Amino acid sequence: MKGIILAGGAGTRLHPLTKVTSKQLLPIYDKPMIYYPLETLIDGGIKDILIISDPDNINKFSRLLGEGEDFKVKITYQMQDKPEGIAQAFLLGEDFIGNDNVTLILGDNLFVGDGEFLEDAIKSFKDGGRVFAKEVTDPQRFGVVDFDAEGQAKSIEEKPANPKSNFAVTGLYIYDNTVVKKTKNLKPSDRGELEITDVNNLYLQEGKLDVKIYEHYWLDTGTFDALLEAGNTIANLRKNEEK
Ligand code: DAU
Repeated sequence: MKGIILAGGAGTRLHPLTKVTSKQLLPIYDKPMIYYPLETLIDGGIKDILIISDPDNINKFSRLLGEGEDFKVKITYQMQDKPEGIAQAFLLGEDFIGNDNVTLILGDNLFVGDGEFLEDAIKSFKDGGRVFAKEVTDPQRFGVVDFDAEGQAKSIEEKPANPKSNFAVTGLYIYDNTVVKKTKNLKPSDRGELEITDVNNLYLQEGKLDVKIYEHYWLDTGTFDALLEAGNTIANLRKNEEK
Protein backbone atom coordinates (compact mmCIF):
# COMPACT_ATOMS: atom_id res chain seq x y z
CA MET A 1 0.00 0.00 0.00
CA LYS A 2 1.40 3.38 -1.04
CA GLY A 3 0.31 6.63 0.63
CA ILE A 4 -0.33 10.08 -0.79
CA ILE A 5 -0.89 13.29 1.15
CA LEU A 6 -2.50 16.04 -0.92
CA ALA A 7 -1.33 19.30 0.59
CA GLY A 8 -1.74 22.01 -2.02
CA GLY A 9 -4.70 24.17 -2.95
CA ALA A 10 -5.28 27.88 -2.72
CA GLY A 11 -6.58 28.00 0.87
CA THR A 12 -8.37 31.28 0.14
CA ARG A 13 -11.00 30.70 2.83
CA LEU A 14 -8.32 31.21 5.49
CA HIS A 15 -6.76 34.43 4.14
CA PRO A 16 -4.73 36.24 5.40
CA LEU A 17 -3.45 33.24 7.43
CA THR A 18 -2.67 31.36 4.23
CA LYS A 19 -1.61 34.30 2.06
CA VAL A 20 2.11 33.54 2.23
CA THR A 21 2.11 29.98 3.53
CA SER A 22 0.32 26.71 3.06
CA LYS A 23 -2.79 25.86 5.04
CA GLN A 24 -1.25 22.49 5.88
CA LEU A 25 1.70 24.22 7.60
CA LEU A 26 -0.48 26.19 10.03
CA PRO A 27 -0.12 25.15 13.67
CA ILE A 28 -2.56 22.70 15.23
CA TYR A 29 -1.62 22.98 18.90
CA ASP A 30 2.07 21.95 18.92
CA LYS A 31 2.64 20.69 15.37
CA PRO A 32 2.18 21.85 11.79
CA MET A 33 -1.10 20.50 10.42
CA ILE A 34 0.54 18.05 7.98
CA TYR A 35 2.04 16.04 10.86
CA TYR A 36 -1.43 14.70 11.68
CA PRO A 37 -2.31 13.13 8.29
CA LEU A 38 1.30 11.94 8.03
CA GLU A 39 0.99 10.18 11.38
CA THR A 40 -2.36 8.70 10.34
CA LEU A 41 -0.72 7.07 7.29
CA ILE A 42 2.27 5.90 9.34
CA ASP A 43 -0.04 4.43 12.01
CA GLY A 44 -1.80 2.66 9.14
CA GLY A 45 1.46 0.85 8.40
CA ILE A 46 2.29 2.80 5.23
CA LYS A 47 6.01 3.27 4.66
CA ASP A 48 6.21 4.88 1.23
CA ILE A 49 4.57 8.31 1.10
CA LEU A 50 4.26 10.95 -1.62
CA ILE A 51 3.48 14.54 -0.63
CA ILE A 52 1.86 16.63 -3.34
CA SER A 53 1.79 20.40 -2.99
CA ASP A 54 1.78 23.63 -4.98
CA PRO A 55 4.88 25.33 -6.45
CA ASP A 56 5.07 27.95 -3.64
CA ASN A 57 5.05 25.43 -0.81
CA ILE A 58 6.48 22.10 -1.94
CA ASN A 59 10.02 23.04 -0.82
CA LYS A 60 8.76 24.03 2.64
CA PHE A 61 7.36 20.53 3.14
CA SER A 62 10.61 18.93 2.08
CA ARG A 63 12.55 21.21 4.46
CA LEU A 64 10.18 20.25 7.27
CA LEU A 65 9.94 16.51 6.68
CA GLY A 66 13.02 15.64 4.61
CA GLU A 67 13.15 12.14 3.23
CA GLY A 68 11.21 10.81 6.20
CA GLU A 69 14.16 9.56 8.24
CA ASP A 70 12.76 10.98 11.51
CA PHE A 71 9.55 9.01 10.92
CA LYS A 72 11.23 5.81 9.65
CA VAL A 73 9.37 6.05 6.35
CA LYS A 74 10.31 7.16 2.85
CA ILE A 75 8.87 10.52 1.79
CA THR A 76 9.03 11.89 -1.75
CA TYR A 77 7.53 15.03 -3.23
CA GLN A 78 5.54 15.99 -6.32
CA MET A 79 4.44 19.43 -7.47
CA GLN A 80 0.85 20.20 -8.52
CA ASP A 81 1.06 23.23 -10.82
CA LYS A 82 -2.60 24.17 -10.38
CA PRO A 83 -5.29 22.89 -8.00
CA GLU A 84 -7.20 20.93 -10.63
CA GLY A 85 -8.92 18.52 -8.31
CA ILE A 86 -8.30 16.02 -5.55
CA ALA A 87 -8.40 13.07 -7.97
CA GLN A 88 -5.52 14.62 -9.94
CA ALA A 89 -3.32 13.16 -7.19
CA PHE A 90 -3.61 9.77 -8.93
CA LEU A 91 -2.38 11.17 -12.25
CA LEU A 92 0.48 13.11 -10.65
CA GLY A 93 1.28 10.06 -8.56
CA GLU A 94 0.95 7.45 -11.33
CA ASP A 95 4.65 6.49 -11.41
CA PHE A 96 4.83 6.52 -7.62
CA ILE A 97 1.80 4.23 -7.32
CA GLY A 98 3.11 1.79 -9.94
CA ASN A 99 1.23 -1.49 -9.61
CA ASP A 100 0.28 -0.99 -5.95
CA ASN A 101 -2.86 0.01 -4.09
CA VAL A 102 -2.98 3.52 -2.68
CA THR A 103 -4.36 5.43 0.28
CA LEU A 104 -4.94 9.14 -0.22
CA ILE A 105 -5.38 11.55 2.68
CA LEU A 106 -6.10 15.25 2.44
CA GLY A 107 -3.45 17.31 4.21
CA ASP A 108 -6.08 19.28 6.11
CA ASN A 109 -8.01 16.28 7.49
CA LEU A 110 -7.30 15.26 11.07
CA PHE A 111 -8.28 11.80 12.32
CA VAL A 112 -7.64 11.67 16.04
CA GLY A 113 -8.39 9.33 18.89
CA ASP A 114 -7.72 5.87 17.42
CA GLY A 115 -4.29 5.01 16.09
CA GLU A 116 -5.39 1.63 14.74
CA PHE A 117 -8.43 2.19 12.55
CA LEU A 118 -6.47 2.67 9.33
CA GLU A 119 -4.19 -0.30 9.95
CA ASP A 120 -7.27 -2.50 10.44
CA ALA A 121 -8.96 -1.06 7.33
CA ILE A 122 -5.86 -1.61 5.18
CA LYS A 123 -5.18 -5.13 6.47
CA SER A 124 -8.68 -6.28 5.51
CA PHE A 125 -8.71 -4.37 2.19
CA LYS A 126 -8.71 -6.54 -0.92
CA ASP A 127 -9.92 -4.54 -3.89
CA GLY A 128 -12.31 -1.75 -4.89
CA GLY A 129 -12.45 1.33 -2.73
CA ARG A 130 -12.96 2.03 0.95
CA VAL A 131 -13.95 5.42 2.39
CA PHE A 132 -14.88 6.70 5.83
CA ALA A 133 -18.09 8.61 6.56
CA LYS A 134 -18.79 10.73 9.62
CA GLU A 135 -22.05 12.28 10.81
CA VAL A 136 -21.87 16.09 10.67
CA THR A 137 -24.24 19.00 11.25
CA ASP A 138 -23.31 20.83 8.02
CA PRO A 139 -23.30 18.15 5.28
CA GLN A 140 -23.69 20.77 2.51
CA ARG A 141 -19.93 21.45 2.82
CA PHE A 142 -18.89 17.89 1.95
CA GLY A 143 -19.36 14.84 -0.23
CA VAL A 144 -22.54 13.28 1.21
CA VAL A 145 -23.54 9.61 1.20
CA ASP A 146 -27.05 8.57 0.18
CA PHE A 147 -27.88 5.24 1.88
CA ASP A 148 -30.62 2.79 0.80
CA ALA A 149 -33.08 1.17 3.24
CA GLU A 150 -30.53 -1.58 4.04
CA GLY A 151 -27.90 1.01 4.96
CA GLN A 152 -25.86 0.40 1.78
CA ALA A 153 -24.40 3.43 0.05
CA LYS A 154 -26.33 4.23 -3.15
CA SER A 155 -24.55 7.34 -4.33
CA ILE A 156 -22.39 10.22 -3.16
CA GLU A 157 -23.16 13.84 -3.97
CA GLU A 158 -20.56 16.61 -3.78
CA LYS A 159 -21.72 19.60 -1.72
CA PRO A 160 -25.46 19.03 -2.29
CA ALA A 161 -27.89 21.89 -1.58
CA ASN A 162 -30.34 19.29 -0.19
CA PRO A 163 -28.21 16.54 1.40
CA LYS A 164 -29.82 13.08 1.51
CA SER A 165 -28.09 12.25 4.80
CA ASN A 166 -25.87 13.85 7.44
CA PHE A 167 -22.96 11.56 6.62
CA ALA A 168 -19.98 13.33 5.08
CA VAL A 169 -17.27 11.43 3.22
CA THR A 170 -14.02 12.26 5.01
CA GLY A 171 -10.76 13.01 3.22
CA LEU A 172 -9.24 9.53 3.51
CA TYR A 173 -9.60 7.11 0.62
CA ILE A 174 -8.25 3.57 0.11
CA TYR A 175 -8.27 2.37 -3.51
CA ASP A 176 -7.03 -0.51 -5.56
CA ASN A 177 -4.75 0.14 -8.52
CA THR A 178 -7.68 0.70 -10.93
CA VAL A 179 -8.03 4.20 -9.47
CA VAL A 180 -5.38 5.46 -11.89
CA LYS A 181 -7.28 4.21 -14.94
CA LYS A 182 -10.60 5.41 -13.52
CA THR A 183 -9.17 8.91 -13.00
CA LYS A 184 -7.80 9.03 -16.54
CA ASN A 185 -11.35 8.59 -17.84
CA LEU A 186 -12.84 11.35 -15.67
CA LYS A 187 -14.01 14.66 -17.11
CA PRO A 188 -13.45 17.83 -15.07
CA SER A 189 -16.57 19.03 -13.23
CA ASP A 190 -18.31 22.38 -13.77
CA ARG A 191 -15.79 23.94 -11.36
CA GLY A 192 -12.96 22.56 -13.54
CA GLU A 193 -11.77 19.89 -11.09
CA LEU A 194 -11.25 16.12 -11.24
CA GLU A 195 -13.64 15.28 -8.42
CA ILE A 196 -12.90 12.58 -5.86
CA THR A 197 -16.66 12.11 -5.55
CA ASP A 198 -16.76 11.02 -9.22
CA VAL A 199 -14.08 8.42 -8.46
CA ASN A 200 -16.13 7.12 -5.53
CA ASN A 201 -19.26 6.93 -7.65
CA LEU A 202 -17.40 4.84 -10.27
CA TYR A 203 -16.49 2.34 -7.55
CA LEU A 204 -20.09 2.43 -6.28
CA GLN A 205 -21.42 1.66 -9.77
CA GLU A 206 -19.17 -1.42 -9.83
CA GLY A 207 -20.55 -2.41 -6.41
CA LYS A 208 -17.05 -2.01 -5.01
CA LEU A 209 -17.14 0.92 -2.63
CA ASP A 210 -17.13 0.06 1.05
CA VAL A 211 -18.33 3.01 3.17
CA LYS A 212 -17.21 2.62 6.76
CA ILE A 213 -18.48 4.83 9.56
CA TYR A 214 -15.59 6.56 11.34
CA GLU A 215 -16.22 6.46 15.07
CA HIS A 216 -13.62 8.86 16.49
CA TYR A 217 -12.69 12.54 16.16
CA TRP A 218 -12.59 13.85 12.62
CA LEU A 219 -11.49 17.46 12.78
CA ASP A 220 -12.15 19.89 10.03
CA THR A 221 -9.88 22.88 9.51
CA GLY A 222 -11.76 24.70 6.77
CA THR A 223 -12.82 27.80 8.72
CA PHE A 224 -11.20 30.00 11.39
CA ASP A 225 -13.46 28.53 14.06
CA ALA A 226 -12.88 24.94 12.92
CA LEU A 227 -9.12 25.55 12.93
CA LEU A 228 -9.20 26.96 16.46
CA GLU A 229 -11.43 24.15 17.67
CA ALA A 230 -9.13 21.54 16.14
CA GLY A 231 -6.15 22.97 18.06
CA ASN A 232 -8.14 23.12 21.30
CA THR A 233 -9.48 19.58 20.89
CA ILE A 234 -6.00 18.18 20.35
CA ALA A 235 -4.57 20.17 23.27
CA ASN A 236 -7.31 18.79 25.56
CA LEU A 237 -6.84 15.22 24.36
CA ARG A 238 -3.09 15.48 24.88
CA LYS A 239 -3.46 16.93 28.39
CA ASN A 240 -5.94 14.20 29.36
CA GLU A 241 -3.51 11.55 28.10
CA GLU A 242 -0.77 13.06 30.26
CA LYS A 243 -2.91 12.95 33.42
O1 DAU B 1 -12.76 17.17 3.85
C1 DAU B 1 -13.53 16.21 3.18
C2 DAU B 1 -14.07 16.76 1.88
O2 DAU B 1 -12.93 17.11 1.06
C3 DAU B 1 -14.97 15.75 1.15
O3 DAU B 1 -16.17 15.52 1.89
C4 DAU B 1 -15.32 16.25 -0.25
O4 DAU B 1 -16.04 15.25 -0.94
C5 DAU B 1 -14.07 16.62 -1.01
O5 DAU B 1 -14.38 17.17 -2.29
C6 DAU B 1 -13.25 17.63 -0.23
O6 DAU B 1 -13.99 18.83 -0.12
P1 DAU B 1 -13.28 20.24 0.18
O7 DAU B 1 -14.24 21.34 -0.14
O8 DAU B 1 -12.72 20.21 1.54
O9 DAU B 1 -12.12 20.23 -0.86
P2 DAU B 1 -11.01 21.33 -1.08
O10 DAU B 1 -11.12 21.84 -2.47
O11 DAU B 1 -11.06 22.33 0.04
O12 DAU B 1 -9.65 20.50 -0.98
C7 DAU B 1 -9.33 19.70 0.14
C8 DAU B 1 -7.83 19.78 0.41
O13 DAU B 1 -7.08 19.30 -0.70
C9 DAU B 1 -7.35 21.19 0.70
O14 DAU B 1 -6.44 21.16 1.78
C10 DAU B 1 -6.61 21.62 -0.55
C11 DAU B 1 -6.18 20.30 -1.17
N1 DAU B 1 -6.24 20.35 -2.64
C12 DAU B 1 -7.44 20.48 -3.24
C13 DAU B 1 -7.54 20.50 -4.61
C14 DAU B 1 -8.88 20.63 -5.29
C15 DAU B 1 -5.06 20.25 -3.38
O15 DAU B 1 -3.96 20.13 -2.81
N2 DAU B 1 -5.16 20.26 -4.74
C16 DAU B 1 -6.35 20.39 -5.40
O16 DAU B 1 -6.35 20.38 -6.66
